[in-house]
Amino acid sequence: MTSQIITIDGPSASGKSSVSRELARRLGWKWVSTGAFYRGLAFVAMKEDVKSSDTQGLVQLAANPVWEVRMDDDQTRVLYKKQDVTFEILAEENGTRASQISQNPEVREALLQNQRDCASYVPGLVAEGRDCGTVVFPNALLKVFLTASQEERAARRAKEQGLDVQATHDRQKERDRQDSSRAAAPLAIPKNARVVDSNGLQLSEVVDQIQGWVVEALASPNGNA
Ligand code: DC
Repeated sequence: MTSQIITIDGPSASGKSSVSRELARRLGWKWVSTGAFYRGLAFVAMKEDVKSSDTQGLVQLAANPVWEVRMDDDQTRVLYKKQDVTFEILAEENGTRASQISQNPEVREALLQNQRDCASYVPGLVAEGRDCGTVVFPNALLKVFLTASQEERAARRAKEQGLDVQATHDRQKERDRQDSSRAAAPLAIPKNARVVDSNGLQLSEVVDQIQGWVVEALASPNGNA
């Protein structure tokens, strides 16, 4: 595994994707939204009539070439039967489904290697999700935990998807509770992580701060600032 990995974990709609995309663009590295693996599997399970309680069915579907995750510069895409379903997987109700199946440790295990493989062929990778620094890439060069208030996150997501702010707020609150309280790899601040509260900050300000830490980490003799 390459050591040039930066992880950015945090709750839903904390800005992880926008920050990761911009940071990767500045560094000339790849980026991946690991939520696409959970969202993709949840969406494909719905299409293939595999219930969220059917662990074996989900594990088999995780390895089924009928769907794949593709790391593009602008977006982590999901293809199902060769069709781009990225827009569909990003719907908030599919996020809820993804959060449900992500409670299952066997499902998590089934998706783990594919996430790790994202680091195989590139000079560096920015990986964002819930357990990137704790489980997927525990040896990352730099670990960041990105957060923002519940109100700001709901307002962002509602604006992005043209949804009602209050309904989005309630849904996110439930998803955060589910993601943080599950037994398997819960959302948690990784040890040695730098915490960024993005409330009231511009995207460029958040990325400037993280980029500064990357520069420090790359210059440090043991590779970790
Ligand atoms: O980051 P996101 O909203 O696209 O993630 C969707 C769901 O997938 C999230 O609610 C929980 C799950 N997930 C996870 O369990 N571990 C990750 N590393 C990424 C996402």
